[in-house]
Amino acid sequence: RVVVIDFGGQYNQLITRRIRDLGVFSELISPSMTAEEIKEMAPMGIVFSGGPNSVYTPGSPTCDPGIFDLGIPILGICYGMQMISAHYGAEVERAGKREYGKANVEVVSDSLLFKGMAKEQRVWMSHSDVVVAPPEGFLVDGRTQSAPVAAMSDPVRQVYAVQFHPEVQHTENGNEMIRRFLYEVCRCEGNWSMETFIDDTITELRDKIGDKRVLCALSGGVDSSVVAALIHRAIGDQLTCMFVDHGLLRKDEADSVVRTFSDHFQMNFIKVDAKERFLSKLVGVTDPEQKRKIIGNEFIRVFEHEVQELGKHHFLGQGTLYTDIIESGTDTAQTIKSHHNVGGLPEDMEMDLVEPLNTLFKDEVRRVGEELGLPKEIVWRQPFPGPGLGIRVIGEVTEEKLMIVRESDAILREEIALAGLEGEVWQYFTALPDFKSVGVMGDIRTYAYTVGIRAVTSIDGMTADWARIPYDVLEKISTRIVNEVDGVNRVVYDITSKPPSTIEWE
Ligand code: XMP
Repeated sequence: RVVVIDFGGQYNQLITRRIRDLGVFSELISPSMTAEEIKEMAPMGIVFSGGPNSVYTPGSPTCDPGIFDLGIPILGICYGMQMISAHYGAEVERAGKREYGKANVEVVSDSLLFKGMAKEQRVWMSHSDVVVAPPEGFLVDGRTQSAPVAAMSDPVRQVYAVQFHPEVQHTENGNEMIRRFLYEVCRCEGNWSMETFIDDTITELRDKIGDKRVLCALSGGVDSSVVAALIHRAIGDQLTCMFVDHGLLRKDEADSVVRTFSDHFQMNFIKVDAKERFLSKLVGVTDPEQKRKIIGNEFIRVFEHEVQELGKHHFLGQGTLYTDIIESGTDTAQTIKSHHNVGGLPEDMEMDLVEPLNTLFKDEVRRVGEELGLPKEIVWRQPFPGPGLGIRVIGEVTEEKLMIVRESDAILREEIALAGLEGEVWQYFTALPDFKSVGVMGDIRTYAYTVGIRAVTSIDGMTADWARIPYDVLEKISTRIVNEVDGVNRVVYDITSKPPSTIEWE
């Protein structure tokens, strides 16, 4: 594996993605990890990521200087390069202006990362500090008009650094540079694949679980289904799957999940009806973070309650993904939303967690699902958040509002399928903003709710663009929603990407 120390840059996810796509397992780690802890992970290489800070700003993230003495190859990117420079005593200067966007690097050495490439490289820059002269022992590998040291290396200590971002697509040979770092500098073997992931995970699960029992929270979505299938492969009947109907599901969803699971899996499967419990806890609550926490908390309480009847289950299996963990806040990244299966866990939880997907991105989970032979309708199901319609009804959750979201969402799904757009749009749903507006229907003034349509294209949900659904399809959806769903007189289409918005409205 290769670890990426997360100094808070916006592209840091992408670095781990690129490395994985090149066949090497990679994960982001916190800058607070000590050299000793990193040594224990035995990485083949270490990447120092970018970050929004200047190395001269007090309190900006640093790392254990012992990491430089581990003898493990290092690649510094942007802020990471400045950290390396500062560590080895080079001069880093505040540039008068930020350099942001495309730039040309003139390659001036035969460094392993650039050997044989064109002398002029189109790269993506995003920085304000510059390294003026390289530290002792380092060679300058490339420069731009405003950065006299845009790339540098010390082949003896195996430390490489670039001021630009090789992980973004605008850096034309970026992927090749990363590949060379992995294979020519770190000498990685490149055997990370979903098959090895499955084999390794099953072994780890058996070691961790032993002869104890696991309860798996199953939502019918791809993540929890893959978790259940993996755990089932590892421990068979020691697994109990539980599907909780929290009353915040889409139209007909509970029945269809029960059907799919009884058709495709020979597992212990239980359905719990907990609508009352959840809805009563949500009365009067309007704050989105509070709603998420209440729902997450209640899930665990339901499990604990049910377990009393089922007998002791030591572990709780969850479909937490890598992105859930990162978006719920690492040391350096800010909390955007508490995803219900991460931030919402009660502190006094009685079960230990098993989260075998917490190092994977969504598209990797789908590949694991296919590898495990799960049915297509599960593997390619669009994502549905754990808190369900609870976060698609903005403000207080009531039965009336839930009904509006459920019915309008069903119409949207039907029309998207009819238009043959299911494969093109990554996720689509309706949300109910908490306001009414004036309309006129059959000569009569109405004062009713607005329904928002959200439809996005994405690869892993980390970034997304609004889907260009044809106007005539949108028109049909809008007409049907206003005509068929009581209490609605207006439909709007959300045309923001993520960032700056998020996919869900809460
Ligand atoms: P956002 O709204 O953060 O959503 O852009 C990114 C993706 O994650 C899904 N999502 C969740 N999934 N528990 C989940 O399991 C949650 O609490 C949660 N919140 C959002 C969302 O539907 C989108 O696909």
